[in-house]
Order: sequence, then C-alpha cells, then structure tokens
Amino acid sequence: MADVMTNRLIEFRKVSRVYGSGEAAILALDSVDLAIQRHEFVAIMGPSGSGKSTAMNILGCLDVPTSGEYLFQGVPTSGLDRSHHTLLRRHMLGFVFQGFNLLPRTSAVENVELPLIYRGMASVERRERAIEALALVGLSGREHHTAQELSGGQQQRVAIARAIVTHPAVLLADEPTGNLDTKTSNEIMDLVTRLNREQGITVIMVTHENDIAAYAGRVLRFVDGKLESDAKRDMEAVHAL
Ligand SMILES: Nc1ncnc2c1ncn2[C@@H]1O[C@H](COP(=O)(O)OP(=O)(O)OP(=O)(O)O)[C@@H](O)[C@H]1O
Ligand SMILES: [Mg+2]
Repeated sequence: MADVMTNRLIEFRKVSRVYGSGEAAILALDSVDLAIQRHEFVAIMGPSGSGKSTAMNILGCLDVPTSGEYLFQGVPTSGLDRSHHTLLRRHMLGFVFQGFNLLPRTSAVENVELPLIYRGMASVERRERAIEALALVGLSGREHHTAQELSGGQQQRVAIARAIVTHPAVLLADEPTGNLDTKTSNEIMDLVTRLNREQGITVIMVTHENDIAAYAGRVLRFVDGKLESDAKRDMEAVHAL
C-alpha cells in the first residue's frame, strides 16, 4: 500500500535472470536492485550483452526473473498469473522497438488501433483514439498511408503512437532510434521527451548513444548483468543552460 502513496512505480529487488543451465548457464542479470519513480525518464546503457534487453523484457512482463522480485506499483508480479501479466502489459505498458514492427501493407491508423482491438474496444472509439494518438506524434494527414509508404522516422512515430494509444503508465523503448539518422533520431527524442513531460508517461529507454541518453533525467549503466552506475541529472540545471 505504501507505494501507492509514494511515487514508486517500479522496483527490482535482487532480480537475477539465468539463461540455460549447468555449464552453459549465463547470468544475464545479477542481483539487480532498482527503483523507478512515476514520471521519470530513464536511459539504460552498457556494452552489448550486459543485460539491457533482458531487463527490459522483465520490466515489460515478457519474461520473469529467475530469482528476486519485480514489483509494479508495489505489487509483486510473481504473485500474478499469466492473464494478469497480459492485463498489465495491455493496460500499463507500451513498447517501442528498434525495428518498428509495423504491418507493412496496413495503414498507419490500423496499425495504431491494434492494441485497442486486443482490448475489445468498439470500432468507432478505437478509430478516434488512434487518430488522436497519430496527431500527438505529428502524423495528422498520414492516417491512411500504409507503413511501407512512410519514412523511417514516420514509421517510428506510428510505432510510438501504437505504444501510447492505450494511455500506458510506462513507455518501454529498446533502441528506438537504432535504425534512424541523427536528425530523425533527435526528432523522435523530442517527441519522447514531450510525451514524458506533457503526458506524464514514465519512459525507460535503452540506447548505445550518449547523445540519445542525454535526453533522459537518469542514466543506468549495466555491465555484466550488474547495475554498475545510476546517475541522476539535475534537469533544472540542464534546462537553464
Ligand atoms: N534467450 C536467450 N537465451 C540464452 N542467452 C540469452 C538469451 N537472451 C540473452 N542471452 C544472453 O544474456 C546476456 C544478456 O543479453 P541481453 O540481450 O540482455 O544484452 P543487451 O545488453 O541487450 O545487448 P545488446 O546491446 O547487444 O542488445 C548475453 O550474454 C546474451 O547472450
Ligand atoms: Mg539488447
């Protein structure tokens, strides 16, 4: 109950994830302790193979810890069954990946509507919400273009619209600008920053690039499955510059 009163949204308590077993076992996450507050914008960095995607998969309820506990809004997720994990994913979490993962020959608006179909929302309301989400990411007028008719940056905007159309508490992004040029990457990051500040969405984003991590208020660095550093930036000071 205490976590409802505080702003703590996410907590890892000694979370480990082991892939495989015996001699071949890989300790992808090694007893990670971590707390993320509502409305934070967190970047996750670290070398290839350091456990970033493993952590994101657990945060997104796509995977579960081998040991330790993941708490969401103070509730241990290990106590939830699969259908509750699915509900948590559909209602609280939005995902954006490097590769956009859109249906290529399907219109932007239909791509964005997909998560609402899973929710069983009526078609008129669904369409309204999808158009609203596309407007929020600056794609008004492109609703009926198919994904393959859009540029890389526009496709990533559609993917972000699809992630936020459910009004999630958390946006999880694994290298969202990995396939984009610098200018387009900065536009996408301005958009993500705006969603964080104006819509209050908590953002957790993996990136390899310092320039991209600089948009976040806090940088977590993983090395060999351990949380090696956790640096908060004084955003007031950054904005004052
Ligand atoms: N499904 C899996 N089965 C076995 N081992 C895995 C699996 N997924 C990841 N691993 C291993 O776990 C470790 C962490 O992988 P992870 O994908 O989390 O790294 P990452 O930090 O996201 O790397 P990258 O920057 O390359 O995306 C690596 O050693 C990887 O080989
Ligand atoms: Mg990864």
